[in-house]
Amino acid sequence: MGKTIIVSNRLPVKINEENGQLVFTPSEGGLATGLGSIYKEGDNIWIGWPGTTAETEQIQIDITEKLKELSLIPVFLRKEEVKRYYEGFSNEVLWPIFHYLSTYANYDYHNWLSYVQVNQKFADAILKQLNPGDTIWVHDYQLLLVPGLIRQQQPQVSIAYFNHIPFPSQELFRLIPWRKELLMGMLGADLLGFHTFDDVRHFLSAATHLLPVQADANRLRVENRIVLAEPFPMGIDSDKFSNLSKDPTVIQHIQNFKKNFADKKIVLSIDRLDYSKGIIERLNAFELLLEKNPEYLEKIILYMVVVPSRDSVPQYKLLKDEIDRLVGNIIARFRTFQWSPIAYFYHGYPIEIISALYNVADVCLVTPMRDGMNLVSKEYVASRNDNTGVLILSEMAGASKELNDALLVNPNNISEIRKALVSALNMPEDEMQDRMKAMRAVVFKFNIKHWVKIFMARIEDVKQMQRDSR
Ligand code: G6P
Repeated sequence: MGKTIIVSNRLPVKINEENGQLVFTPSEGGLATGLGSIYKEGDNIWIGWPGTTAETEQIQIDITEKLKELSLIPVFLRKEEVKRYYEGFSNEVLWPIFHYLSTYANYDYHNWLSYVQVNQKFADAILKQLNPGDTIWVHDYQLLLVPGLIRQQQPQVSIAYFNHIPFPSQELFRLIPWRKELLMGMLGADLLGFHTFDDVRHFLSAATHLLPVQADANRLRVENRIVLAEPFPMGIDSDKFSNLSKDPTVIQHIQNFKKNFADKKIVLSIDRLDYSKGIIERLNAFELLLEKNPEYLEKIILYMVVVPSRDSVPQYKLLKDEIDRLVGNIIARFRTFQWSPIAYFYHGYPIEIISALYNVADVCLVTPMRDGMNLVSKEYVASRNDNTGVLILSEMAGASKELNDALLVNPNNISEIRKALVSALNMPEDEMQDRMKAMRAVVFKFNIKHWVKIFMARIEDVKQMQRDSR
């Protein structure tokens, strides 16, 4: 058995400069924890962008050496590449189209050329590390061409790809000028993983409509090679969140929050700044609640954390301004001398604070317009060791397929969200417990370790199918 090479746009570390020294902090992200058990084993490695534009060759050498100790291999990006490949093509074409916001797409030919060139750069970095018998696992939409680029050089190698965001209906996908190239890139893999069955269906439909390939159920034939497309709903490290709830630091934070909010009901909203998350509609629904249900005035607080993200992309800047304006209006309209309806934070927080927030929230309000999976909803559930709390979840999140004991809502229907909030705030204790227990069973059983295990096993199955079909 060879090694596993994990590849993603971002490496699972954050690099900061403190007093002229480079400091490496492992990332808390779901993928990093999930794959942590793999990439540190044996000779396994993780290849990706360290997230900084290292200006000089010496800084690059220093970073490379430090990362090597963590089994991480950096791919450095120049400023122009960050602007065109990452912001321009990945986040101004693929992200909006895959989240059904085609009017936000900016089809710039030079950004596409940069996407091709950077995907080649990643492929070259992989090929440099590749030995016979290795397995390559590529992650997410920033690297759609990588499987194809590797396959051209190494026809026999095992390649898997996982798509962490939704795969759109082929009616959306076909709008992209370079749709065929993107699909051909993906089909360089042996196994293509998606969060939900609908994503798989959309991918198969795009591939068979746009390319001369045939599908038999979820099995494609690409130049006489079998390729499988399957759903693998991603889980979280549920034990980690459950244990955090018992951590002394977290308990201290919980007590502090409880003191601040005394007898108020807390509705929690946490997301990266993103138009796919439905933050504006969520605020509109909360405003509607305050308007139609005055009994909640001074009794409820929307605790809203927005984590800064991609703020050099124009649509994200506009969204930030709109959220600021809306929050300001709602506060100005409803606040009293003793109370403010919204506590709004534009900030990232350490995991201990996030865990404390999951624990103090009577309701967690997760209403994305589209979301591949949505891990916040699962983290909230895993944190509720006493089976209390209510999750309100958008039907458009992949997680809604598994967490059907949440109160499911259409994120565009602000009146429905208001009613769900009223139901959540009045839910009888035994119903709350039953729903939470059922969701916890799912989140603990289908955790991240399970996800990694079944995905890796399936790569072996495809290779066997390919050998059998020869
Ligand atoms: C989503 C994507 C990831 C991405 C993350 C953060 O979860 O699926 O691929 O890494 O957002 O976004 P960023 O652009 O900061 O990497």
